[in-house]
Amino acid sequence: MLLGVSGGIAAYKAAILLRRLKEWGADVRVVPTPASLEMVGATTWEALSGHPAHVHVPEAADEVAHVRTGAGADLFIVAPATANTIAKLAAGIADNMLTASALVATCPLIVAPAMHTQMWEHPATVANIETLRSRGVIFAGPVSGRLTGKDSGAGRMMEPEAIALLAIENLVSRGFSGATSSELAGMRVAISAGGTREPIDPVRFIGNRSSGRMGLELAKAAMSRGAAVTFVAANVAGAADELPGATIISVETARELAAAMENLAAQADVVVMAAAVSDYRVAASETKIKRSGALSLELEENPDILADLAHHRRRSGQVVVGFAAETGDGEHTALEYGIAKAQRKGADLLVINEVGRDTGFGEVETLVTIVDSIGNEIARAQGAKSEVTAAIADAIVEKLRGAR
Ligand code: CTP
Repeated sequence: MLLGVSGGIAAYKAAILLRRLKEWGADVRVVPTPASLEMVGATTWEALSGHPAHVHVPEAADEVAHVRTGAGADLFIVAPATANTIAKLAAGIADNMLTASALVATCPLIVAPAMHTQMWEHPATVANIETLRSRGVIFAGPVSGRLTGKDSGAGRMMEPEAIALLAIENLVSRGFSGATSSELAGMRVAISAGGTREPIDPVRFIGNRSSGRMGLELAKAAMSRGAAVTFVAANVAGAADELPGATIISVETARELAAAMENLAAQADVVVMAAAVSDYRVAASETKIKRSGALSLELEENPDILADLAHHRRRSGQVVVGFAAETGDGEHTALEYGIAKAQRKGADLLVINEVGRDTGFGEVETLVTIVDSIGNEIARAQGAKSEVTAAIADAIVEKLRGAR
């Protein structure tokens, strides 16, 4: 993939775009224009992309870097695209590496304009945009908002996360995947994450502090192994931005989450319950509860979704995964409680997180033990969530192999 950066103040935002694309699994080369180097230097692009960032077309006749660079790309993004660069693209001018590569590239081109409103609305720019559109160029923005200095209006570059999403959707729709391995290729993985909210009345709810981070990281790990992921988000902020290429289903309550997961389980090869599900719901009031002294709420029991999914398999060979955050007490260790839960719930894999255990370095890392349905230890992992989820994904791959 090629990322062309031209000389707008928004050039620094292209670094965020680059990071998002790389997180997805894209191999990105950056082609900055000479003017953009005033904003962000070539060294930054080289460090972030891991490739040389050529600015000028080499003069030596035997070097055809722009041909190689442009022709080999599967997607070309120009962000930010200044009025000047847009004019050159429309006219077919090839006076730097970005514009020369664009003239050679046959892949789709996404352009994210960034300029002052007057420039954006000028008939010259309007005509250039029209020309590029008629050639099939895809425009990402611009949006209205704060521009450089005190101005605001149309011409602000679309946010980098949104451009990344557009780019990845374009790639996915043409059959590209960001996967770096194919261990889970062709596998359908349904993951629930976040924390359910049980309404008390129209404005209040019983919830929990789960951010959905573990589920998000596991979804990324599954996608990077080639899986098709459906992510059931119980109040997870930014799931769509973090998981381009995944199908996102938003739910609020335990019962909505149960319905979504049961539906997906009919087709899924792997079902993961990473969500913190409320065990109880409130017999909710239709109207806002008024303050009038002590109040008791009547709670009804919610279904145990994981136990249900595990005990009543929707498909043979399906791998069902659960999570348990446990603490030890005087009677049993966290692991013992986890093992008892594994036996009770019957999931093929239960990821036991020993909460708050001191790793000895003054920082609490995620420490998990993965056990099977009878409580046998399968693996242990410790470290950042992204490292831990790699171990969980490996255990899933192994289980699927065993199930076949
Ligand atoms: N879980 C579920 N449905 C529920 C509660 C929990 O599917 N109503 C799932 C969670 O997604 C997780 C696993 O079960 O994968 C363990 O969650 P946890 O809250 O530890 O289990 P509980 O059954 O609520 O056990 P405890 O009595 O320890 O709260």
